[in-house]
Amino acid sequence: MTDLPHQTVKGKHGSAGFELAPEVLNSRNDIALFLRTRRSTVAADITAPGPDDAQLAHIMEAACRVPDHGKLTPWRFILFQGAGREAFADWLTQCWRQDNAGATTDAPVPEANFVRNVPLVIAAIFSPVDHPRIPAWEQQLSTGAACLNLLNAAIAMGFAAQWRSGWPAYHAQVAEHLGLGPHERIAGFIYIGTRRADATPMSDRRRPFWQDRTSHYAPADKAAEEPA
Ligand SMILES: Cc1cc2nc3c(=O)[nH]c(=O)nc-3n(C[C@H](O)[C@H](O)[C@H](O)COP(=O)(O)O)c2cc1C
Repeated sequence: MTDLPHQTVKGKHGSAGFELAPEVLNSRNDIALFLRTRRSTVAADITAPGPDDAQLAHIMEAACRVPDHGKLTPWRFILFQGAGREAFADWLTQCWRQDNAGATTDAPVPEANFVRNVPLVIAAIFSPVDHPRIPAWEQQLSTGAACLNLLNAAIAMGFAAQWRSGWPAYHAQVAEHLGLGPHERIAGFIYIGTRRADATPMSDRRRPFWQDRTSHYAPADKAAEEPA
């Protein structure tokens, strides 16, 4: 259950969940409440303006302030803005058309159209370090945390943002084009800007009731468990 205004919604497989009332989404005056109401905006609904240099610096600072076992900083970021973003959109378009030779040339290319239209795109790169005690798994988790902090910082500052993978995150030529090493992976592209005025009104997506995803640890009764 939640004490915030919501409606209960059934999921595809019958699981219950809820959607918050639109008016409480992205409540930004209280950090704890923000974390309970945060909501992304799909990239198709994001347009200019994006953050200015000072706002971008604050977003990136937040991205780098995450739990990171051993201070390995197993993540890095590539910013796409202005002409660089346009060039990357063109490059993605070409790459996709090479792979999809039969596609109509004027059809919008998936993901490339978002790179073209959203004012700030940030690729988050998982960049693990060889460490005798800290496995790559923990470093992946830290990278996910960096992505979420980045996303949340942007939304908390009033921007519209979305974390997407899409085909470019899994395409070997994209990784090569962006200069990734063989040990690195794209954790996602984070799109940041302003929610379009003509976007459909903000609404929630179904969230699980936390109680359905949580159990209480109960030590087993060893005597009862042991075979006679
Ligand atoms: C690693 C990762 C990759 C994602 N890739 C996509 C994607 O390619 N396309 C998409 O529509 N949503 C994608 N999502 C989902 C959205 O980021 C997000 O969950 C959805 O828009 C709802 O966001 P919210 O829970 O922040 O409101 C991805 C999420 C994660 C964590």
